[in-house]
Order: sequence, then C-alpha cells, then structure tokens
Amino acid sequence: MAAHHESGADLSAVLSPEDLAGQANFDRIISEDSRIEPRDWMPAAYRKSLTRQVSQHAHSEIIGMQPEANWITRAPSLKRKAILMAKVQDEAGHGLYLYSAAETLGTRRDELNNQLLEGRAKYSSIFNYPARTWADMGAIGWLVDGAAIANQVPLCRASYGPYGRAMVRICKEESFHQRQGWEILYELSNGTPEQKKMAQDAVNRMYAPALQMFGPPDSDSPHSQQSMKWNVKRFSNDELRQRFVDMIVVQAEALGLTLPDPDLKWNEERGHYDYGQLDWEEFSSVIAGNGPCNTQRMQRRRTAHEEGAWVREAAAAYAAKTAAAAAATELIGA
Ligand SMILES: [Fe+2]
Ligand SMILES: [Fe+2]
Repeated sequence: MAAHHESGADLSAVLSPEDLAGQANFDRIISEDSRIEPRDWMPAAYRKSLTRQVSQHAHSEIIGMQPEANWITRAPSLKRKAILMAKVQDEAGHGLYLYSAAETLGTRRDELNNQLLEGRAKYSSIFNYPARTWADMGAIGWLVDGAAIANQVPLCRASYGPYGRAMVRICKEESFHQRQGWEILYELSNGTPEQKKMAQDAVNRMYAPALQMFGPPDSDSPHSQQSMKWNVKRFSNDELRQRFVDMIVVQAEALGLTLPDPDLKWNEERGHYDYGQLDWEEFSSVIAGNGPCNTQRMQRRRTAHEEGAWVREAAAAYAAKTAAAAAATELIGA
C-alpha cells in the first residue's frame, strides 16, 4: 500500500473516504500557508519527512554540545566559563524541545534516540570536526550558530506547528550564541599577535564546514523541492548559503579577520558575493562517518546514555509510584 501512495498513483483507489477528506484538508491548510497540528490528518510521507528532519535536528543539538563542553574546564576566565556553560546548556534544551516536537508525530523519544545510538540517524556534519583551541569557541559561535540561525529563522514559519514554535525560542537563543562567539573572536582579534593568529586559524578551519551546514547544492538536493511544497523549507540550500556568505563577509571585516576563500568577491551584477567551490566529497565522507571525530562523538554519546540509565530508571519508578498513588486515591474517592 505504502508503495502506491508514494508512486502518485490514483489515490482514490487506495485511500479511504476519511483519508481523502484528510488529504483535502491538508492540501487546503498548506495552500493557505496555515499550520498542521499533531492531531490533524497528514500524508504518511509528510509525517515521515518531518520526523526525520526534526529528530535529526534534535540529534545535532545534542551531539553539538560535545565540541564546546570539551572546553568548559579550560575556559580562560570565570566569566567565559559561565557563558559557555549556559550556551551548552541551551543546546541541551534545544534538543529537548525538538525531541518533544518530533514525538508529536508519533515516534517515541527512546526510538528516536536508538536511531542515533545505533547509527541509523544522521546529525549535522559540522560536529564531527574537532575544537582545537579556545578561539574555536568563538568561531563555532559566530559561524556555526550563525549558519544555524540563517537556516532556522525561516523554519519558524514551518507548516508543522510544534516544529515552527520550537524554532522561535531556539532562534532567540541562537542569536545570543552567535553574539558571544563574535565577541570572543573580536577580543582575540584585538589582542596579542598570537591571539589574533589563533582567531584567524579557527575561522580558517570552521568556514567551509559552516557553509556546508546548509546542505548540498540545490542541483543535488532531491528532498528540498518536496519540503518547499509542504511549506517546511522556505528557501533552497543555495539561497540560504548565499544569504549567510553575504552576511559574514561584512562581519569578518569588522572583526579584522579574513575568510579563507580566494574566490570570495562582490558581484555587482548579482548583488551578492561570489564564493568558491566547496569540497562536497569531503562533506559526503564526513556524513558517511569518516570525519575526524565521528567515532569519538558517537562513543561519547553512547557512554553518556549508559551513564544516565539510573536517572531514567529512577524517573520511571517515580512516575509509576505517582501513578499508582493517584489510582489508589481515585479508588478511595469512588
Ligand atoms: Fe542550538
Ligand atoms: Fe547554538
């Protein structure tokens, strides 16, 4: 049956009257640019696609805590440590909102989590690169959280209600993340020659992977079109990437740092900056598990999950006890 749905064959032959009415309602909501809510009928492909996108997004937030958490104990001052801790904690929160949003589509959180732990789900390739110096905290905040914002602001209008609403709060926190990254780089860039060199080196390493966060070129991004028809994605990968490049060129100048791309130059005719080819082979290879830190990141996540088992058991035992007590009270009441 599922194969029929996806082949675009005559739907009236396979859909029940309820499904046909549901599909008509779904189509109307999408054409009005309104919102689909968890209890609404939705096509199986929409549910599947959203579940994949929202859960991958959640996984990225959670795995994304690692490169920065790694620097909390080495932050150069108490102030920096407090800010970095708050930032990493925000990312945990983003993961939690997003797992909650994904669960409303009908897949339980433990199943989504298993998909990650068993390597069946992807997360953003950027987090498979190491954070080598303190300046990387600046470059990650400025470029990685910056790219996340460029990607996520349009997602605040995503047709799936719980996803769009989670995104509103996440974007507010991401702007703070980007500002703190920019400020770290600004201070380093205006510090000693060694500090400036460290800032430049971090930007040199993070620039291309940050541009790749928008995903493959449009010509090579088969899911994008459908996602745009469903009002989930609002701009193509290349459009968002261009918007981001145009934004960071000016910011890099203000920082007194350069971007490591000899082809970067203003194109008067297009009204945008041209930029050089990105290494998409490297991107595919990192996604496929061969980045510098893939193994380490997954190992760390599995260990953290195992070490957290007692918390889950305690929470489940407490929930069972509370439920039993509530049932007993109800019995007495009756
Ligand atoms: Fe985040
Ligand atoms: Fe962030």
